[in-house]
Amino acid sequence: MSMIYGERVRLRATERDDVKKFFVWVNDPDVTRYLSLYLPMSAVDEENWFDAMTKRDQNEKTLVIEVRDGDGWKMIGNCCVFDIDPISRMGELGIMLGEKDEWNKGYGTETMILLLRHGFDTLNLNRVHLRVYAENRRAKRSYEKAGFVEEGRLRESVYKHGKYDDVIVMSVLRSEWVARIKEK
Ligand SMILES: CC(C)(COP(=O)(O)OP(=O)(O)OC[C@H]1O[C@@H](n2cnc3c(N)ncnc32)[C@H](O)[C@@H]1OP(=O)(O)O)[C@@H](O)C(=O)NCCC(=O)NCCS
Repeated sequence: MSMIYGERVRLRATERDDVKKFFVWVNDPDVTRYLSLYLPMSAVDEENWFDAMTKRDQNEKTLVIEVRDGDGWKMIGNCCVFDIDPISRMGELGIMLGEKDEWNKGYGTETMILLLRHGFDTLNLNRVHLRVYAENRRAKRSYEKAGFVEEGRLRESVYKHGKYDDVIVMSVLRSEWVARIKEK
């Protein structure tokens, strides 16, 4: 698969060497605060994750998020489309920016817009959805900016940090994506 380019962000395939950085990110409690990760991860866990990831369907592989850094590119996170349903033409998105210094710069929003474009224009999906913990206000706001609308709330469906939180389901339909493109 060729790289996916946006204005400031590009998405590339994950290489084995990248897991060294992923290892740091998935062990940072600030990064994993609103993720379904509950135990410290070892370097071997990450290697095993990589091996399993390479065996996934071609369209569900994890992509590295990079931003411009001088003349080169710097990796700041990863993302993926997963659970693609080929009959109902829908898929779910996931994203993690592991470099905390890069939060709140619009990179998450731009990445989600790139994934939406990829989902609708390349994978021919009709619906793209995601799940986000209600307390993850930065993420929710970022998804709203990318065009996602809240469609439901799974009440108290995650337990983390000693309490339950709701999980919000958000989605974009192809018709909404097309209307948004026409507006621009
Ligand atoms: C969630 C994440 C993808 C968002 O990406 P990002 O690049 O940091 O977000 P953006 O800059 O695109 O947008 C953030 C928006 O949230 C706002 N925001 C930040 N903190 C907020 C808070 N506590 N409450 C409300 N809004 C908040 C920002 O001001 C910005 O909105 P604005 O442009 O209207 O001002 C990224 O921060 C991340 O990966 N975090 C760690 C892992 C994670 O939580 N992944 C998502 C799991 S569902």
